[in-house]
Amino acid sequence: MHPSLWREVWTLAGIALASLVLGAITGRYFIVAAIGFGLYIAATLRHIYRLHQWLHHRDGREIPDAGGLWGDVFNEFRKLIKQAGQREDQLTDMLTRFQSAAAAMPDAVVIVSEDDDIEWANPASATLLGIRFPRDTGMRLGNLLRDPELAEYLERHDLTEPLELPSPANAELAVSLQIIPFGSRRKLLLARDITRLVRLEQMRRIFVANVSHEMRTPLTVLTGFLETLRDMKHVRPEELSKHMNTMYDQATRMQRLVDDLLMLSKLETAPPRRHDEVVDVPALLAGLKEQAELLSGEARHRITLETQPGLRLLGSREELHSAFSNLINNAVRYTPAGGEIALRWWADADGARFTVRDTGEGIAPEHIPHLTERFYRVDTARSRASGGTGLGLSIVKHVLLRHDARLDIESEIGKGSTFLCAFPANRVAQAPALVHSQAG
Ligand SMILES: Nc1ncnc2c1ncn2[C@@H]1O[C@H](COP(=O)(O)OP(=O)(O)OP(=O)(O)O)[C@@H](O)[C@H]1O
Ligand SMILES: [Mg+2]
Repeated sequence: MHPSLWREVWTLAGIALASLVLGAITGRYFIVAAIGFGLYIAATLRHIYRLHQWLHHRDGREIPDAGGLWGDVFNEFRKLIKQAGQREDQLTDMLTRFQSAAAAMPDAVVIVSEDDDIEWANPASATLLGIRFPRDTGMRLGNLLRDPELAEYLERHDLTEPLELPSPANAELAVSLQIIPFGSRRKLLLARDITRLVRLEQMRRIFVANVSHEMRTPLTVLTGFLETLRDMKHVRPEELSKHMNTMYDQATRMQRLVDDLLMLSKLETAPPRRHDEVVDVPALLAGLKEQAELLSGEARHRITLETQPGLRLLGSREELHSAFSNLINNAVRYTPAGGEIALRWWADADGARFTVRDTGEGIAPEHIPHLTERFYRVDTARSRASGGTGLGLSIVKHVLLRHDARLDIESEIGKGSTFLCAFPANRVAQAPALVHSQAG
């Protein structure tokens, strides 16, 4: 038996013995025993009362002190309360950590009761779903998010597939929503911002549609001519040569389209360029100027080239060749015969710059922000007729991106356009020297 319990037994036995002795002396056994045991019961009651008072108020007061069995009981209470305090601290700490983690989450998290009443929501729920905590606590989820698709989703039993819908808080955002049952019939509503994904998917669809459309025209022409030739009994040589030329043009057009698409895909998928090659830009431009003169042919544009001698660039020769030739070819193609085209390559404190200035037809301001989009053309029919695929400036944009450079376009209808490629100073391979001019 526990020592404290022994002490109580001995106390009771002592009271009984003392009552017997005093009873024998006084002859009043009952009164003496009643007084002895009464005192014992009173002491016990006092302890119970003190314990009750302490349990009832528990306002930071220390648990009362007592000896014997009651002292043990009080000690056990003291231990239990200390443990409960520690557990409470741990839980509060965990809850605080959970809440701050949920608050920092970019996804919306909403805890919903069995009846779809909102119990808790993190801050992202306001931006993605328009649910604010604590304002909307107790509101029905379906009443707040009035979307028939969502209502149907909430009714569904199989919630494994997420639901994609426009954000109820902002029509420009798209969200993916999922409900996860947890605990005792509660539900966790998770919403993720998928605007970027949806846009990418949309871009992919437009791209595929554009490619198919661009391919279909030359293919239709080609198959048309081939069918005609097949069905013709006698073909005159001059007619055959005319058809052959048209077919050749269409085949070249498809070839260009495929080449440009391959180039774009290579630019997009290749890892970012390091400073791997020192490109002699003046020499590159001198070659491109000659090609531009050939392309100009009968149109006899006045093409000038001004370069800073020895000003070289860290990058990819092949990519820069493609970007610069696209800009120069555009200038030749969109500038009427006899117009001027000025090419310039120089460096200043901010870095190196390449400009192509023409006195061509110019571009209306509303088109300028879209020029680098794939297949974007100001005058589709004209660009196609001249063999354009509408991918040229897209390639330029990607090449410049890979060289940490930017493209600025200035243009005025009827006056001409200037395309500027600005490269950062850390791409310049040689300090600025004398300006060398060359006209042609
Ligand atoms: N120098 C310029 N002057 C006027 N318009 C231009 C000039 N450069 C580009 N554009 C306009 O921008 C559009 C997009 O140019 P981009 O080079 O991307 O395609 P493209 O020239 O039509 O075809 P590609 O270059 O693939 O053969 C052109 O269709 C044209 O309308
Ligand atoms: Mg072009």
